[in-house]
Amino acid sequence: MRRSLKILTAATAVCSMSVLSEINRPKFSDDGSILRPTDHREWVFVGSPLTPNALNNGAASFQEFHNVYVENSAFQHFKKTGLWGNGTQIVMELVSVRQGNDCDEETGACIETSGTGYFQGDFNGLTMAVKDTERFPSEPGGWVYYIFGNSQPPYADTAKEFPAAACNACHDAAADTDFVFTQYYPVLRTLPVLNQNNESAMKSISYEDLSWIR
Ligand code: HEC
Repeated sequence: MRRSLKILTAATAVCSMSVLSEINRPKFSDDGSILRPTDHREWVFVGSPLTPNALNNGAASFQEFHNVYVENSAFQHFKKTGLWGNGTQIVMELVSVRQGNDCDEETGACIETSGTGYFQGDFNGLTMAVKDTERFPSEPGGWVYYIFGNSQPPYADTAKEFPAAACNACHDAAADTDFVFTQYYPVLRTLPVLNQNNESAMKSISYEDLSWIR
């Protein structure tokens, strides 16, 4: 009885340690390129901002749905602490708006079973943000940014990091939580640890604030 109690106590200690510390880090090749994750569509899907071409003079900067996923262990860490831990991987996969004969040329909206609106078409690009203040101590917040593709798959297997300034100016200026736009992702902004509700989160950024990036 005493022995099994000891084993149980030890097992509980190991478990609680790993719960706080283990974030699955990305893999890098010898030349410092990052390897593209192969299972990102199985990560936690946190939201999908939509900027259809039809509402952006025919050429949205980021086409068009932006499906955002957080690697599972990084999500668990964030859920508990409200912090992005070292090793965090977040991808944004761009997905076109479905086109077809049943879609309006001007608005881009299609008539489907659920109503008239925008439906996801093809995968159309993959970017990633990684936080690691130990590996990238001189990058703001330890964040580095990658592009694996700007068009339909297949995406590149590896990517070199972008100079931080090319990517993180908007993230620095307008993102709510440590360079990440949690205000646009309902799965994140409603987490109790952030203590935000939808209304207050969305109020924290106004359309005017973002107009300079368009
Ligand atoms: C013009 C401003 C701007 C620039 C420049 C920019 N981003 Fe973003 N990024 C955003 C916004 C706004 C979001 C929030 C999601 C959305 O609205 O699409 C975002 C979200 C992301 C996300 C999802 C995680 C998050 O932080 O919310 C990734 C990954 C990402 N961007 C990668 C990049 C990469 C890689 C570059 C550089 C090649 C880059 N971004 C440059 C504005 C920008």
